[in-house]
Amino acid sequence: MTLFFSDPEFHTALAAELPGNSRRELPGIGWLSGHDLSQTPHLAFARQTLPQAIETQAASINAWADRLIDAVASILPDDQPWHLHFWPEYGEGRAGLHRCELIRTAMRERMKKRRRHLLRSLNEEEMPFTPTTSLVQCFLTSPEAGWLSVSIAPRPHELRAILSPFNRGFIPWAEDKAAPSRAFGKVIESEMRLGRQIAAGETVVDLGASPGSWSYVALQRGARVTAIDRSELREDLMRNPRLHFETADAFKYKPPQTVDWLICDVIAAPQRSIDLLLEWLRERRMRHFIVTIKFKGDDEYSLLSQLKQLAPPLCSDFRLTRLHANKNEVCAFGSSRAKA
Ligand SMILES: C[S@@+](CC[C@H](N)C(=O)[O-])C[C@H]1O[C@@H](n2cnc3c(N)ncnc32)[C@H](O)[C@@H]1O
Repeated sequence: MTLFFSDPEFHTALAAELPGNSRRELPGIGWLSGHDLSQTPHLAFARQTLPQAIETQAASINAWADRLIDAVASILPDDQPWHLHFWPEYGEGRAGLHRCELIRTAMRERMKKRRRHLLRSLNEEEMPFTPTTSLVQCFLTSPEAGWLSVSIAPRPHELRAILSPFNRGFIPWAEDKAAPSRAFGKVIESEMRLGRQIAAGETVVDLGASPGSWSYVALQRGARVTAIDRSELREDLMRNPRLHFETADAFKYKPPQTVDWLICDVIAAPQRSIDLLLEWLRERRMRHFIVTIKFKGDDEYSLLSQLKQLAPPLCSDFRLTRLHANKNEVCAFGSSRAKA
C-alpha cells in the first residue's frame, strides 16, 4: 500500500486526486491507497508519500531500532547512500520527537556494532534523490505503533515528483528579512526540491514581479532579470544594473530568445497561469521554470488535471506540488525540453 500524507486543510483535495475507490483514510494523516504509482505521478496536494507502507509495531526503543535495521539489512544496495526519514505523528509537544531521537541513536549504536557498512552509507543530509539513493521512512502513530516504508534505489529518484527528500515533506521556512516579502520562500523551496538553483550569469524572466522577492532571489544569485509587472519593484531592486523592468502584461510578454528561467507568481485565474506555462513550454521559451497557480476557492483544483497530462511530455523534469510556502496555491516547477 502507498500512504499519501496531506496537510489537514487539503485532505479532501488530495482525495480527489487519488483515483478509484481503493483508498482508506488515515484520520489526521492522509490516505492509504493500493493505487499503481505509475498511474499517479503527480499529486499536487500530497505533502509526502510512503511508497511501500507497512503497519509496524514495536514495544520499546531498542525494538524499534531492531525493526529499522531488519527492514534495511540485506536489502539496501552495498555502498550506496540511503536516507532515513523518521518522525512522530502523535501527541503534542516534544515527547514523540524525543522518542524518535532515542530510536535513531539506538539504531546508530546497534549498527556500529553489527552493521557498520550500513551506518557508513547513511546520509543524514536532506537533499534531492539521485538514481543511487534509497529511502527508509518511518513514522510513529503512538510510542509502540507506526508505519514503515523502504524504497530501494532508483525508486526514490523515479518517484521524485511525489516523494519529498525532506523529512515528512516539510522544509523549514526560509528566513531573509531583507527580502521585500515572504514570497521569496517559494523560489527557495522549489530550488531545494529540484536540487538546482538559479545561477550567476543566467537569464531570468520574472512575470508578476512586484514588489520583487522572486527577482531579489535571482539577483542575489547573480542572474540577469527581466521583471514584468504593472507596478515597479522595490526601489533598491529597480536600481540594480542586472535588473531590467518593463511595465507590461505578463500574458503578452515574449522573451526575444530562450531564457534560463521563467519565474511567475502573477495573480490570475488558474486556467490563465496554466495556459501561460503550457505556451512557454510549447514554444520552448525557457529551460527551467517556477510558476505559481493560485486558487480562489476549492472548486478549481480539477483544472490541474489538464496540466498534469500536457506538461510532462514537454519537460525533462516536471513537478507539481503545493509547497510548504504556498497558501491556496500550488507551484509547477522543473525543466523544459529546450536545449541547454
Ligand atoms: C503575488 S504578486 C507577486 C509577488 C512577487 N513574486 C514577489 O515575490 O514580490 C502578483 C503580482 O502580479 C501582478 N500582475 C497581476 N496581473 C498581471 C498582469 N496581467 N501583468 C503583469 N503583472 C500582473 C500584480 O501587479 C502583482 O504585483
